[in-house]
Amino acid sequence: MRDLKHAIVWPARNVLGSLRVPGDKSISHRYAMLAALASGRSRFENFAPGADCAGTLGCVQALGCTVERDVQRTVAIDGLGLQLRAPSGPLDCGNSGSTMRMLAGIVAGQPFISEMIGDESLSRRPMKRIIEPLTKMGAEIHSANGDCAPLRINGARLHGIEYRVPVASAQVKTSLLFAGLLAEGHTTVEEPTRTRDHGELALRAFGANVDRSRNTVSIQGAQILHPLEAYIPGDISSAAFFLCAAAIFPESNLVIDGVLLNPTRAALLDVLTTMGSRISMVRVEEQHGELVGTVTLVPGVGQPVTIAGAQAALLIDELPVLAAIAPFTTGGLEVRDAGELRVKESDRLSAVTHNLRAMGAQVEQTADGWHIPGAQRLHGAEIESLGDHRIAMAFSIAALRAEGETHIQDSGCVAISYPNFFEDLEQVVER
Ligand code: S3P
Repeated sequence: MRDLKHAIVWPARNVLGSLRVPGDKSISHRYAMLAALASGRSRFENFAPGADCAGTLGCVQALGCTVERDVQRTVAIDGLGLQLRAPSGPLDCGNSGSTMRMLAGIVAGQPFISEMIGDESLSRRPMKRIIEPLTKMGAEIHSANGDCAPLRINGARLHGIEYRVPVASAQVKTSLLFAGLLAEGHTTVEEPTRTRDHGELALRAFGANVDRSRNTVSIQGAQILHPLEAYIPGDISSAAFFLCAAAIFPESNLVIDGVLLNPTRAALLDVLTTMGSRISMVRVEEQHGELVGTVTLVPGVGQPVTIAGAQAALLIDELPVLAAIAPFTTGGLEVRDAGELRVKESDRLSAVTHNLRAMGAQVEQTADGWHIPGAQRLHGAEIESLGDHRIAMAFSIAALRAEGETHIQDSGCVAISYPNFFEDLEQVVER
């Protein structure tokens, strides 16, 4: 999403206070899609407010479901059961890879043709990763240039497959589990390393049986879903910006209430602990299989951090902000095995390097990561967000510790996941 908005971020003295962040984006997408396939009315409080999840709701509506949404972020969806209605126009996924890849698994199993479109960024992102397995399951999928959107999906009676996903991708895993729900027989998905498990947990929350053993998940087709009423926990990938901001101010103290603590999403807390922060969790409870709690962060001096292998996959959305604060840490940061960053909303590997250098940082970029020394001094700069929400927010955090003001170009793109990001940031920043 690009617009002409331009934010100016001034240096801060400290980060203090407590905050709630918007509902989790990954869970909101999945709940909305499964609600469409459930028989009856589902209702979600604290549904993610960004444009990405609004796009999913638009698609669900276009597939025949009634969707009601109020200003309090409550969403009600009347599901149609496993068979949806043919959309009268293209399904517009906007900037959202999650919408396109996961919903593709659902429309692939419907008895009609769907066209899926996206914005300029989404139309450059790789779709072969879902086209290949969904085709194996019986769908016919035509893509545009190479293996990119727009996609034309000729839905079919799918059959279950056993599939090893070549890249660690929760979107692909979830897409295949959703297709597996609609397929005849059994679908088994093996992933190279464990990725976020909201797809599995959401299917169970809607009443489906899903089996898991190590990195393999399987589902029997044609299971009936019941509707769900749920409060969606705060998005830890959004909380990450504030936690990282607090971690780089020696006098800070930050509390985030009601945040998602699912172990496949909370690796950031381990990294911040190694970087020197003391993190405590209280009021931890389980809601529909998801762990939720209150997190408090008090900073301290720590060790250098290396993120690689399975941990890189678990931290994929938090790596830009971790890299953006790395120059202000004591020991710096090394990231490896994060080549997937190149095919996100922007090439995040290069975007981070470019913007860190614009702020005067020393950074070495490798084929799949960075080496960023700690204890550096940065200055304010003109930041190119490339219309990528996580780049805009990551560098708004780096800006708090830079000398002089920082200009974030296309700052309106934060609305993809976090429309009130700048307002919430001001609430906890002391100048
Ligand atoms: C997501 C999975 C990740 C992540 C994205 C959301 C999800 O993508 O980057 O923001 O909800 O499953 P990949 O699964 O493609 O790595």
